[in-house]
Amino acid sequence: MTGQSSSVPVLSVRDLTVEFVTRRATLRALDAISFDIARGEVLGVVGESGAGKSVTGSAIIGLIDPPGRIAGGEVVLSGERIDNLPPEAMRRIRGKRIGMIFQDPLTSLNPLYRVGEQLVETIRTHTDLNAADARKRAIALLDEVGISAPERRIDGYPHEFSGGMRQRVVIALALCAEPEFIIADEPTTALDVSVQAQIITLIKRLCSERGTSVMLVTHDMGVIAETADRVAVMYAGRIAEIGPVRDVVKQPLHPYAKGLMGAIPSLEGDAERLVQIPGSMPRLSAIPSGCAFNPRCSRVFARCHVERPELIQVGDRKVACHLYDMPESLRGKAEIAA
Ligand SMILES: Nc1ncnc2c1ncn2[C@@H]1O[C@H](COP(=O)(O)OP(=O)(O)O)[C@@H](O)[C@H]1O
Ligand SMILES: [Mg+2]
Repeated sequence: MTGQSSSVPVLSVRDLTVEFVTRRATLRALDAISFDIARGEVLGVVGESGAGKSVTGSAIIGLIDPPGRIAGGEVVLSGERIDNLPPEAMRRIRGKRIGMIFQDPLTSLNPLYRVGEQLVETIRTHTDLNAADARKRAIALLDEVGISAPERRIDGYPHEFSGGMRQRVVIALALCAEPEFIIADEPTTALDVSVQAQIITLIKRLCSERGTSVMLVTHDMGVIAETADRVAVMYAGRIAEIGPVRDVVKQPLHPYAKGLMGAIPSLEGDAERLVQIPGSMPRLSAIPSGCAFNPRCSRVFARCHVERPELIQVGDRKVACHLYDMPESLRGKAEIAA
């Protein structure tokens, strides 16, 4: 957006709450989460399955379908509130200002149309280019995402591309209207291990060349360590810890983040360092009171059963854990007293 100071975050999420209303209960999938993404920044989002990562992405792009709803909070894109826009205005923002890359490339590609038709249509919807120039732009983009002989392959159908090549086409599609922000939700999970790193490297390079901000959802901590500037660790619809990747990955504070980071294989492939967190993520209908992580936490104490921890600033990061709401000298004692 022109006229915006670069200090305005590209994305600002404030107390975002998402609920699914069922006959039996109202289930809270996101519970007042807040975070910012700066211009050009890559925010990694991690957490076990069911943590709320995809719901966060869907809420940002206005794609929470009934019986789900945004029950509170705000989503602000480059200074403009977008969570309350009419559906038509939100449709224009998707694709134009927010690009999307999902796990399965066929979520974004229509199997019935040639990839070139899809690229050209998206480019023409969001720019003033005529058909010939849009086609030139599409070919250049296919070339940029690493598709060889793009002049010929632009007329191929999605099924004529391998999984990795299809995801490259999706990246071209996500970038073709030059969005300020991209959501990539597990963009490599469905791909061969051998091409995963190439796809991540490509997203990272293209976005950093364009100054595009990225929210990168992945369960691959190695990818986060190499790609993200900051990382948010999610658990049961809340942010457990958020901060610079060097802090959160190398020296996590929240016991859940410690457990997740302990699950990164070391470079030497030392399998004994793979620590599993006991138990599993609670279902939305049975989120424990107090800290949702308390039944699985090795450092639980009395307060964790009764009071939901809020994010508190610790150095450059924020952590939602009562351990950090007391002097360091008392930390061990609280647990013993529990
Ligand atoms: N359409 C839906 N109806 C009911 N619950 C949902 C729906 N979509 C997601 N959820 C619930 O919201 C929680 C977060 O899901 P999700 O964001 O997909 O997790 P993940 O972190 O694995 O991406 C999960 O408990 C999931 O079961
Ligand atoms: Mg998901």
